[in-house]
Amino acid sequence: MRVDYKEDLDLDVDRLQNGWLPVAREWLADAIEALIPEPNALVLATVDADGRPSTRTVLCKGLDADGVVFYTNYDSDKGAQLQHTAYASLTFPWIGIERQLTIRGTAEKVSAEMTAEYFASRPRGSQLGAWASQQSRPISSRAALNDALDAVTAEFEGRDVPVPPHWGGFRVRPETVEFWQGRKSRLHNRIRLTVATGKVERLQP
Ligand SMILES: Cc1cc2nc3c(=O)[nH]c(=O)nc-3n(C[C@H](O)[C@H](O)[C@H](O)COP(=O)(O)O)c2cc1C
Repeated sequence: MRVDYKEDLDLDVDRLQNGWLPVAREWLADAIEALIPEPNALVLATVDADGRPSTRTVLCKGLDADGVVFYTNYDSDKGAQLQHTAYASLTFPWIGIERQLTIRGTAEKVSAEMTAEYFASRPRGSQLGAWASQQSRPISSRAALNDALDAVTAEFEGRDVPVPPHWGGFRVRPETVEFWQGRKSRLHNRIRLTVATGKVERLQP
């Protein structure tokens, strides 16, 4: 079944005359309004030291003129890869409203202050989980993971959970932003903005 979506069939280069951010925000708001599950989920691609790509889903926790922010474990595979090759591609796959937003650009850690502010807003269980999980590393069993959680729960009992040193945000600063919008004709709209030059161009679908 195809979800009804607000048709915006004339996505054209002039929509990006004020930059990529207003349209990106509008599309995210449309995804929320359309009740798409996890509308702020995006697929993040990174490459390893051999240039081999990996993808996984993360949640967008910031969208502004400086780009997209998400939070993760800096020692995870993605964290290590971004610290080695500070470049990412990310896609919001809003399939239910026949749209896709792809941002490619450089990746950098956000400030410790910004991470601390976000971490403090998380539920305590998530804060403890960030301590308990050595994300992307093997573990012998579910029970061992539960033991790790019990240990940190006991350690921080009765006090605020601090930010783990290996945990924080990354910001992807856009170099290119591409808006894709499905058309019934299959001649879909693709409009790409190159941030450095401000060039906006239509791509063939
Ligand atoms: C809907 C969804 C949202 C997720 N959000 C995050 C997130 O915000 N941060 C994160 O580190 N992992 C998140 N994950 C888990 C990642 O997809 C991934 O399994 C994990 O980060 C390890 O990735 P890596 O081994 O490539 O570093 C999410 C998974 C799903 C399905």
